[in-house]
Amino acid sequence: MKTTRKAIWGIVLLLMAFLAACGTTAEETSSSQEEGQSEAEAPKKLRVVTDAAYAPMEFQDKGEVVGFDIDFIKAVAEEAGYELEVEHVGWDPIFVEIESKRADIAISSITITEERKQSYAFSVPYFQSTNKILVPEGSDIQNAENLKGKKVAVQNGTTGQMAMDALIGKNDPNIKKFEDNNLAIMEMESGGADAVVADNMIVEEYAKNNPDKKLKVIEDSAFDSEFYGLLFPQDSELVEEFNKAINAVLDNGTYSEIYQEWFGIEPNIKVLKEQQ
Ligand code: ARG
Repeated sequence: MKTTRKAIWGIVLLLMAFLAACGTTAEETSSSQEEGQSEAEAPKKLRVVTDAAYAPMEFQDKGEVVGFDIDFIKAVAEEAGYELEVEHVGWDPIFVEIESKRADIAISSITITEERKQSYAFSVPYFQSTNKILVPEGSDIQNAENLKGKKVAVQNGTTGQMAMDALIGKNDPNIKKFEDNNLAIMEMESGGADAVVADNMIVEEYAKNNPDKKLKVIEDSAFDSEFYGLLFPQDSELVEEFNKAINAVLDNGTYSEIYQEWFGIEPNIKVLKEQQ
């Protein structure tokens, strides 16, 4: 009887020791698996460059880069599983940074054009835009045609400049080019130019936020409808992933939310989708 009891206790103890050992091993395995997984899934940080002098699309607020474009790309990157570092570099440097691959993506109200497509890759369109004319309220300029013979300030290397080159003539001294759109607006305000030509959201927002400056915005069907895209190095592998993520953000309501926050109106998502 005694021996049987001893034997049973022996077996029980052995079993407990065995189970305990199993427990530790199982725990150890799962925790090391988790570590391995989180290492593999640690989001890669992408370097995003912009010209943060184009409110409300991208601008600086207390040293921080903010704007519709910034909220948009953050939402898209989150969807694609990437972390971002957004840096203001200026307009011309954007193209240098992307061409040299020092930056992964540029977002800066960049219009998708055939010419740019020769040297860079673009995402699907994420925003519709057109150039408009900003003038002092009392100006006699009423349409694009009236800009002939006037001094027009534009940001260098933008579609605004291209539209003026086509209308007034390339290298015409009446086209005053600035490296930053805010400088173009300042030139008009100080009397050095009669008008500014830039993207509608920018001139409309500026006129609205500065009622004391008494400005008016003129639209003209002579200006093309344009679409903004994210800009990548020509052979970037990110394009496909970001296109997918842009479509997800367009479809799941996030895009509308951000658009309404900045502009107070519903976006036309259908027109963007039709361009794909
Ligand atoms: N959409 C125009 C273009 O692509 C102007 C963009 C200017 N953007 C800026 N952040 N300054 O040429």
